[in-house]
Amino acid sequence: MANIDWSKLTFSYTKTNTILTTTFRNGEWSPVESHTDDYIKVSTYCGAFHYAIECFEGLKAFRGKDGRIRLFRPEENAKRLQRSAKFLGIEAPSVEMFVDLCKRAVMENIDFLPPYEATGASLYLRPTLIGTNPQLGVQSSKESTFMLLCSPVGAYVGGALDAVDVVIARNYDRAAPNGSGSFKVGGNYACSLYSLNVAHELGYKAVLYLDPATKTHIDEFNSSNFFAIKGNTYITPKSDSILPSITNMSLETVAAHLGMEVERRPVPVEELSTFDEVGECGTAVVITPVHKLVDKPFLESDEETVYLYGDGKCGPKSLELYNFITGLQKGEIEDTFGWIEYID
Ligand code: PLP
Ligand code: COI
Repeated sequence: MANIDWSKLTFSYTKTNTILTTTFRNGEWSPVESHTDDYIKVSTYCGAFHYAIECFEGLKAFRGKDGRIRLFRPEENAKRLQRSAKFLGIEAPSVEMFVDLCKRAVMENIDFLPPYEATGASLYLRPTLIGTNPQLGVQSSKESTFMLLCSPVGAYVGGALDAVDVVIARNYDRAAPNGSGSFKVGGNYACSLYSLNVAHELGYKAVLYLDPATKTHIDEFNSSNFFAIKGNTYITPKSDSILPSITNMSLETVAAHLGMEVERRPVPVEELSTFDEVGECGTAVVITPVHKLVDKPFLESDEETVYLYGDGKCGPKSLELYNFITGLQKGEIEDTFGWIEYID
C-alpha cells in the first residue's frame, strides 16, 4: 500500500502506478496500453486542444467493510460518457469496455485505494475521452482516445460534511438554454471558471447558476447538482441545462426508500427562503451541506440577499441521506438496489 496519510487527502492529483489508454482508429479500438508515465504523445493539432473535443466521467472505488472493492453504478457513467461523446460526434467505448477498464485501473492502482477505515477517502476514477487525430477544420474528430486515470481523494472542500457558503452568479452562465449543459464536456467547466474565480476571491466555495433562459429558476452548481429539503420532501431542479447527476438520481431513490417525498421540478429562486436544508450533491462532493447562500444582482455587487440554512453543520435529513449513500458504497448497508459493481 502506498505511504499516504489517508486522513489528509483532499480532492487533488496524486501520481499513481499507471494510466490506461486505447485509441479508436479506422473502426476499432487499439489494444489497451498501461503507462507508468502520465504524459502521453498526441498531435498538437488534435481536436481536443483546439475545439475542446473532450468529455469525461468521475466515479469512485471504495474498500468495503468486508474488504471487497466496490464501484458505484459504473454503467451509468459509461452511458453518460456515450451520450456526451454522441454530442461531440466522437466514438465512445462500450459499457462493457468502460466498466472493464475501470476495474483494471483499480487493480493496477490498488496501492492507492484507501482502506475501509479512511473516512471520506476513495480512489477517484477519471475516465476521459478526447479527439486525437490532427485536424484544422471545425469538425468532430475521427479518432478518439479513451484514458482511464485515477487518484486517491478525500473531501472536495473542507472536511466531509463541513457546510459551505455559496453564491448565485446572475451575470454569468455555465451553459446556454439549448446548449451543452446536460453533457459532461470539459467546455462547460472552462465556461464556469471566470465566475468561479470571482466567487472564490469573495470567499465562496461554489457558484450556483440559474436557468440561463429566464434567470428565475435554480439550475445547478459549477461541479454538482442542487438539492433542498422542505419538511419531509427532497426537492431537486428539473432542467435541460444541468448535468444528470448519478448521485442525485440515487439520492432520489434513497430518499423515497427512507420514506421521504421526492420532487423533481422547476425550483423558483423565491423558494430558497422556504427550505430547511440545502446542499450540493455529486460524486466529488458526495453531499456537501450549504450554510449560507447569497443572491446578488450581479456577482461583483455589494448588494445581497442572504439565505441561511442550519448552524454550519449538516442538517438531519441531508445527514441521513449521506449516511445511507456512503453506507452503500462502503458495504455497511446491504445493496438492495443493484448499484454496486464488485471488483474481486
Ligand atoms: N453537476 C456537475 C456540473 C458536475 O460536474 C457533477 C459531477 O460529476 C455533478 C453535477 C454530479 O454528477 P454525478 O453525481 O454523476 O457525479
Ligand atoms: C465529479 O463529481 O465526479 C465531478 O466530475 C466534479 C468534478 C468536475 C470535480
